[in-house]
Amino acid sequence: MDNKAFFDLTYGIFLIGAGSGGKMNACITNTVMQVAASPTRVTLSCINGNYTPELIKAGKCFTVGIVDETADYGYIENFGMKHGRDLDKFEGYDVKYDVNGMPYLTDHVCAVLSCKVVSEEDLGTHTLFIAEVVDAVKVADNSPLTYADYFAKVKPRKDETKDERKIIGWKCRICGFTVDGPELPEDYRCPLCDHPRSDFEPIYEE
Ligand SMILES: Cc1cc2nc3c(=O)[nH]c(=O)nc-3n(C[C@H](O)[C@H](O)[C@H](O)COP(=O)(O)O)c2cc1C
Repeated sequence: MDNKAFFDLTYGIFLIGAGSGGKMNACITNTVMQVAASPTRVTLSCINGNYTPELIKAGKCFTVGIVDETADYGYIENFGMKHGRDLDKFEGYDVKYDVNGMPYLTDHVCAVLSCKVVSEEDLGTHTLFIAEVVDAVKVADNSPLTYADYFAKVKPRKDETKDERKIIGWKCRICGFTVDGPELPEDYRCPLCDHPRSDFEPIYEE
C-alpha cells in the first residue's frame, strides 16, 4: 500500500466543543463531513483516549466550529495539541453555549453546527460518531480553512538541521505515539492517529 495516496484526501479543520457534568472542552479535528440531508447528519472521528470523545460519549452532544482562514498556529496548537483533562483550553476565550448547552467559540470560525449523537462505533484507534445537526449558525464571511492550507500556510516549518542534540526517537504531537530510533521516513504516518511526519517532534538523548 502506498501511504502517499492518503495525502490526496481533502478535509476541513473543525473546533469540536463538548461538555458533561459541568466540564467543558474543545479539540481540533479534520474529520467532520455531512453524510445525509434529511435529517441532516454529520460524522466525526475522534481519537480514543482523548478528553473530547469522553465528554461527547457522556453528554451525547457536540458543537462543530468550522475553523476559518483567520486561525493562527497558536489557536490550533492550544486546541489541537493539548489535552483538556490537564488544563482549561478555554481560558482567555469568550465561550458561548448552543441549544444543547454545548460550548463553542466565535473566534476563528465561520459557522457553528449543533449536533446530537445518533450512534457511535468503536473503530479501534478512533470512535466514529454519527450525529444529527439540530441547529446551524453563520458567524463570519471568512473562507473555511482546509487541512491542506493548514499545513501549507499556518503550521510553521521547523529547521531540524540546526539542532545538534542526538535524536533517539520521535513523538506524535497529536496523540502521543512514540517511535524509537533517530530516523523517521518522510512519508511516515502515525499508526494511531494517521497524522503525517511533520506532526512528530524529536525525542532527544538526555
Ligand atoms: C490539524 C489537526 C487535525 C486533527 N484531527 C483530529 C481528528 O480528526 N480527530 C481527533 O480525535 N483528533 C484530531 N486531532 C488531535 C486532537 O485535537 C488532539 O489530540 C487534542 O489534543 C485532543 O484534546 P482533548 O484530549 O482535550 O480532547 C487533530 C489535531 C490537529 C492539529
